[in-house]
Amino acid sequence: MTPLLDVRDLRLHYETPRGPVRAVDGVSFEIGSPGEVVGIVGESGSGKTSMANALMRILPRNVARYDGEVLYDGEDLMALTDERFRKEVRWRTMAMVFQGAMSSLNPVLNVGRQVTERVLVESGASKREAYRKAEELLELVGLPRDIIKRYPHELSGGMKQRVVLAMALMMDPRILILDEPTSALDVSVQAQVMNLLKQLKRERGMAMLFITHDIALASDLCDRVVVAYGGEHVESGTLAEVLTAPKHPYTQKLIASIPRLHDPAQPEFIPGRPPDLVDPPSGCRFHPRCDFAFEPCDSDVPPWFEAGGAQHARCWLLGQSKGRG
Ligand SMILES: Nc1ncnc2c1ncn2[C@@H]1O[C@H](COP(=O)(O)OP(=O)(O)OP(=O)(O)O)[C@@H](O)[C@H]1O
Ligand code: SF4
Ligand SMILES: [Mg+2]
Repeated sequence: MTPLLDVRDLRLHYETPRGPVRAVDGVSFEIGSPGEVVGIVGESGSGKTSMANALMRILPRNVARYDGEVLYDGEDLMALTDERFRKEVRWRTMAMVFQGAMSSLNPVLNVGRQVTERVLVESGASKREAYRKAEELLELVGLPRDIIKRYPHELSGGMKQRVVLAMALMMDPRILILDEPTSALDVSVQAQVMNLLKQLKRERGMAMLFITHDIALASDLCDRVVVAYGGEHVESGTLAEVLTAPKHPYTQKLIASIPRLHDPAQPEFIPGRPPDLVDPPSGCRFHPRCDFAFEPCDSDVPPWFEAGGAQHARCWLLGQSKGRG
């Protein structure tokens, strides 16, 4: 069956005086069908936001390289002109809640103006239609109807994040990209927003790409998880596979770093620094920080190895267990 979204070998590099920053360096993954949520997990600087921006074709001026395939229902979106992409794909096929979006709401415009703005500009809907849709969506995300007349400074963080979510839903997207949607919220509000996302998945069959540095948070919502490290992806599988039997040493460290309420063991931290994406380590990019590094790791780039079920990882240890390396 054709996946809903099939990303193949996507690259986004930025030009800098030191040389190109390889922020997205040949990543591939799929969202199989509507209602599926894929989590992208990785530490700060691993290229998560850059990948989301690459999918939305929201690019800065200093792009050095941007290529790969992004197949939506089998059609390569990368082959579309900018104009067609803007008219047909951005916000309609794929919409995004940007990292930190709730703090960039316009303080001088009320909620109604901000939520209806895009649909008025991009779809030619009448003001009445746009406001009706906005009211419906604001209600869907659990906000009172009178919110439409209020200004951002009158809203709590949780309410602002719901407004931002309603904005992203205005053009009825098939895929929603959420970039750290709860990171500025306190724990109880975070739980409310996560419940809302689960409701969207369940009741509207919304497919999502859920980006987070917090693998514990991903476990609440995602069907499948992809682990990002240094501009690449290093492990993928179902949530249960990755969480209960992580195969890549970086994923193992990520999971060991989750604090556990009733476990006396201290959470681990990951020693060393994230790789420099202008001059990443040779071979496996994780090798300078890996406790298990052995002979091929600093020279040979590990390919994807199958790890049983839907799980795959890029680590030479898996090759070794199959008699390689
Ligand atoms: N326009 C740009 N020019 C040069 N470098 C950039 C640009 N945008 C991002 N970067 C660099 O690309 C790398 C990946 O950044 P990105 O924001 O995608 O990471 P992230 O995984 O989203 O991090 P975080 O968890 O902190 O949000 C970082 O090294 C960052 O400094
Ligand atoms: S390939 Fe080698 S360095 Fe990389 S994670 Fe596996 S064991 Fe560690
Ligand atoms: Mg980011």
